[in-house]
Amino acid sequence: MSYSDYFNPEVETLSVEGLKALQLERLQKTVRHCMNSPFYQKKFQELGITPEDIKTLDDVQKLPFTSKEDLRENYPFGLACVPMKDCVRLHSSSGTTGNPTVVLHTQKDLEEWANAVARCLWMVGSRPEDVFQNSAGYGMFTAGLGFQYGAEKVGMLTVPAAAGNTIRQIKFIKDFGTSVLHAIPSYASRIYEVMKEEGVDPRKDTKLRVLCIGAEPHSEEQRQRIEQNLGVKAYNSYGISEMMGPGVAFECQEQNGLHIWEDYFIVEIIDPVTLKPVPDGELGELVLTIINREAMPLLRYRTRDLTRILPGECPCGRHHKRLARLQGRSDDMMILKGVNIFPIQIEKILLGFKELSTDYLITLETVDSNDIMTIEVEISQMFTDDYSRLKALEREITRQLKDEILITPRVKLVPKGSLVVSDEKKAVRVKDLRKLF
Ligand code: COA
Ligand code: ZN
Repeated sequence: MSYSDYFNPEVETLSVEGLKALQLERLQKTVRHCMNSPFYQKKFQELGITPEDIKTLDDVQKLPFTSKEDLRENYPFGLACVPMKDCVRLHSSSGTTGNPTVVLHTQKDLEEWANAVARCLWMVGSRPEDVFQNSAGYGMFTAGLGFQYGAEKVGMLTVPAAAGNTIRQIKFIKDFGTSVLHAIPSYASRIYEVMKEEGVDPRKDTKLRVLCIGAEPHSEEQRQRIEQNLGVKAYNSYGISEMMGPGVAFECQEQNGLHIWEDYFIVEIIDPVTLKPVPDGELGELVLTIINREAMPLLRYRTRDLTRILPGECPCGRHHKRLARLQGRSDDMMILKGVNIFPIQIEKILLGFKELSTDYLITLETVDSNDIMTIEVEISQMFTDDYSRLKALEREITRQLKDEILITPRVKLVPKGSLVVSDEKKAVRVKDLRKLF
C-alpha cells in the first residue's frame, strides 16, 4: 500500500497503541466537555463519578449509557454542550407523535463528519476524477448532506440527485458519467430493473464502477448479485444519525467487514439484556462513544444495531477495528426505503381514529422491484360499510401516516375480526416478506 491509498494516512495507518493513546486523550477531553450539559451532569451525579475517574480506556465502562429515549426526553436541545450560537446545523428524525431525536453540529463537527465520509469514499477508490451521484434523500436525512460534503471534500464532481425519479437518475448516470453511486441496496436493485426496462446496459452504457450501499440489512449473496448486475464493486456503509450519519464505518477494498474509525469512536459490544460486554468476536449490540464532537457528544450510545467485531488484521494496513455486516436490531425498528420506522409511530396514528379497532398488521414486501408497506387495520364494529366514506377514511389515515413516517403506506381497512394478529398469544404486528432481486 502506498500513502496515496489513504485519505488521512497518519491516522488511518496509526498503530493499535497509537490509536489507544489518541482515544484516551480524546475520551478524557470529551467527558470533561460533557459536564457542560445538565443531562450528563445529572447522570454523573447519579453514578457518583467525576471526569477524573476516567484514567484508562477501560474506564469507559464506568460511564452512563445514553439511549434514544434520553434524546427524546431532552428534546430538542437538552444534550447540547456548547451555546446555541456555536451550532450551525441540526438533523432530526421523523415523527411528530413522540418527540423526534435531534442532533446538533458545530462548524467543526461538520468538518470532522465530511472528513470521515471523505476517508470512506477514498478508501473504496473514489478520486477527484470521479463523478459521484447520491440517491439518498436530502434535507433531514443525514445520508444526503453527509455524503455530499464528504464527496466534495474528496474533490469529486457531485450530482446531488436525491431520492426517487429513477429514470432521471439513470439519465444523470449516463450523461454525467457517474462512476461512484450511493444507493441503498433495494434502490440499487430498482435502478437495475429500470435500466433493463429502458434498454440501458450498465456495463456498456455507463461508467459506474463503485457503489456505496448501506442503511438496509443485506446478505453477501445480495451484494454479489448487485455487483454482477450493475458491473460495480459494492461497499457496505454504516452510519447512524445520532453519531453524525454516514461515515461511521465503511468497508475497505478487501470487502471483509467495516472499519470503524477509532479516532472518532470508542466501540463496545454489549449483551442488550445484561448490558455487560460480550466476549471478543461475539454478536451483541453496538455501543458507541463519540470522542471528537463539540456540539453534542454522546457517551456509550446504545445504537440497538447487532453486530460483532471481526478478529485479525486487515491487509489494507488500517488498524481500525472491523465490524461484521449488521445482523438486525435489538429493538423493533423497521427500515423501509432507507427510512427508519418504529411500529409505535404507526400505532399512535391509528389510535387517533375512533373508527378503527386496535388490531392491525404491517406487511413489508417487494412488488415490481419497489419495497412497499401495507397496513391492514380493522374497522370498529359500529362503523359504516359506505364505500366512499371508507375510501375517504383510508386516504386520511394514509396522509397522517405519511406525515409521521415519511413514506407512503398502502392502507387497507378490513372488517372487524378478520386479521390474525396473534401468534402463541404474542401479537405479531409486522410481517417482513421483502426480498432483494
Ligand atoms: N433512495 C432513493 N430512491 C428511493 C428510495 C431510496 N431509499 N426508496 C424509494 N425510492 C424511489 C422509488 O423507487 C420511487 O422511484 P420512481 O420515482 O422511479 O418511481 C420514488 O423513490 C418514490 O418512492 P415511493 O415509494 O413511490 O414513495 P414514498 O412516498 O413511499 O417514498 C421517499 C418516499 C422515497 C421519498 C422516501 O422513502 C425517501 O426519501 N427515502 C430515502 C431515505 C434515505 O435517503 N435514507 C438514507 C439512506 S442511507
Ligand atoms: Zn481494510
